[in-house]
Amino acid sequence: MAYRKDNLRTVKQAYTEKRARALGIARARLAELHRTIPELCEIDSALAETGMKLVNAITAGAEGITERVAAIRAENEELQEARAATLRFYGYSADYTDVHYECEDCKDTGYVGTAMCACMKRALSLLSLESAGLAPLARTQRFDTFSLDYYQGDDRLTMQANLEIAKRYAASFTPASESLLFLGKTGLGKTHLSTSIAVEVIDKGYDVVYASAPTLFLSLEAQKFGRDSDIHIEEAEDADLLILDDLGTENPSPLHVNFLYRLVNTRMVSGKATIINTNLTVRELRERYTDRVASRLLGEYLVLGFVGKDVRMQKIGT
Ligand SMILES: Nc1ncnc2c1ncn2[C@@H]1O[C@H](COP(=O)(O)OP(=O)(O)O)[C@@H](O)[C@H]1O
Ligand SMILES: [Mg+2]
Ligand SMILES: [Zn+2]
Repeated sequence: MAYRKDNLRTVKQAYTEKRARALGIARARLAELHRTIPELCEIDSALAETGMKLVNAITAGAEGITERVAAIRAENEELQEARAATLRFYGYSADYTDVHYECEDCKDTGYVGTAMCACMKRALSLLSLESAGLAPLARTQRFDTFSLDYYQGDDRLTMQANLEIAKRYAASFTPASESLLFLGKTGLGKTHLSTSIAVEVIDKGYDVVYASAPTLFLSLEAQKFGRDSDIHIEEAEDADLLILDDLGTENPSPLHVNFLYRLVNTRMVSGKATIINTNLTVRELRERYTDRVASRLLGEYLVLGFVGKDVRMQKIGT
């Protein structure tokens, strides 16, 4: 899995701290109660002794081992009950001095055996959405919030097919998946479906970069002049999946056109998938981004046409 390395490091660090905190709290509570409740001290020493006794009972030979072990077990249980009763007597819950992990499955290590725990996968996904630039969109733009009710007649059939292709694409994604070009007027769900795909792809552990074309081009210029930028061009080049949104909303300079051509080629050559969204028609795409770029996209990408009436407007109207 190609989790972005610094994200994995950040999450692992957070888990180490979280676990240390949980252990520290339990230790501090125990120390405090041992200081203030002498009975508890005695019970805990006795409990520690039963551990030793158990070892001795087992190593003392086969004869009578079952009885010996059973006796110690019983003693241990009694002590545990006494301990719980003592804690309750002083107004604490029976598990007050236990370590309270956020996740009992992995005890805040992030791993169950050698497998990554579900809680850590979730934490990593959230962080990846953040660093992919998708956190705000991902809250509302998911497959399960994409409705076909906004499209009528043949448009609905077309959009149903698009939705199915997008779902299948996300479910079977690998960086070697084909690239997609979403064409269509504004408000028809291009960004929504791209985000839906991204969320699932991130959940699978892939590294996704989402960038609007204007932001990417601004970042390109900033980087050229050594300034800090929102999007790091190398990350856009290297991501397992790059989503380039809103191509055509800016007025491209020859520099932009060249950069886009190189970006598309670099990713194609390294066998990495890209999703490009544009409000431009095929003709406008050729005019603004040259034949060379348009042919690449139209020839090598799977082209999905988005049709219907502006969903944003429909939503306002209802
Ligand atoms: N089929 C749909 N079901 C529910 N909401 C949709 C649908 N299509 C678009 N929207 C919503 O309408 C708004 C515009 O859609 P968006 O995906 O940004 O359009 P585009 O990228 O094609 O311009 C967004 O808030 C989006 O979540
Ligand atoms: Mg859009
Ligand atoms: Zn866990």
